[in-house]
Amino acid sequence: MEYENVLLQKEGKIAIVTINRPKALNALNSDTLKELDKVIDEISNDNEVLAVILTGAGEKAFVAGADISQMKDMNVLEGRAFAMLGNKIFRKVETLEKPVIAAVNGFALGGGCELSMACDIRIASEKAKFGQPEVTLGITPGFGGTQRLPRLVGMGMAKELVYSARTINAQEALRVGLVNRVVAPEVLMDEVKKLANEIASKAPVAVKLSKQAINRGMQVDMDTAVIIEAEVFGECFSTEDQTDAMTAFVEKRKLEGFKNR
Ligand code: CAA
Repeated sequence: MEYENVLLQKEGKIAIVTINRPKALNALNSDTLKELDKVIDEISNDNEVLAVILTGAGEKAFVAGADISQMKDMNVLEGRAFAMLGNKIFRKVETLEKPVIAAVNGFALGGGCELSMACDIRIASEKAKFGQPEVTLGITPGFGGTQRLPRLVGMGMAKELVYSARTINAQEALRVGLVNRVVAPEVLMDEVKKLANEIASKAPVAVKLSKQAINRGMQVDMDTAVIIEAEVFGECFSTEDQTDAMTAFVEKRKLEGFKNR
């Protein structure tokens, strides 16, 4: 399928999704969000894809936020609907049954920071800048920033960043736990692809169920969380991959690859 504002490329077991409005620093308008929605569906249905990379086109930005020119004249109901659209799609990214890595190549502000936080893992270039500048525009974060930021960096730091609208550089984002790693801009995509391929070489069902257990478990009490873990752990024993991998280990031979999806 062809998209205008989002690029979808496949490299072996990896899908690379690029938000592609570089002239507007990849700002998210409704059309771009709706295309992202379709791209995620396409990836979800593609059994060959085992890991996803999400990035922004151009040198300057990952995503510089939701589109301010589109939001400028919204009324209460339109504002709410726009937030619900963004949240629905970002939740789809978050719950996609394949790991998603954000390759943050530049500005990740507002909706851009929020999109990166809906991904499983964030790797940042030294040039990346993060922030939730919404209060400078008279609005609150609307695509998950008030919810995912405190879950990632803790309530105190999230409140500081949201209330002050302060933009932080990649090193500070690393220090507060917003990103996993900071790398030189010229090696960003190579590093992210290396990690994506490493993940894609593991048992897909086990990776998928690990994601599910972590995501679901983080939202419930520990007694419920360990039941979720036991459920997914048990489910792994219904796969040939578990039998094959454990048999290969016991027989001291290398497993050729995983079958189950
Ligand atoms: N929406 C719409 N257009 C945007 C945009 C956005 N979020 N961010 C940048 N652009 C556009 C600019 O208007 C400009 O367009 P023109 O060339 O047509 O004038 C183009 O992208 C390049 O931007 P700048 O000239 O501003 O580039 P710069 O290097 O001087 O500054 C920047 C870069 C600091 C990121 C600056 O563009 C900026 O502050 N952008 C807005 C960031 C922001 O406030 N994001 C949050 C939006 S609110 C939100 O996301 C709500 C939510 O949670 C859902």
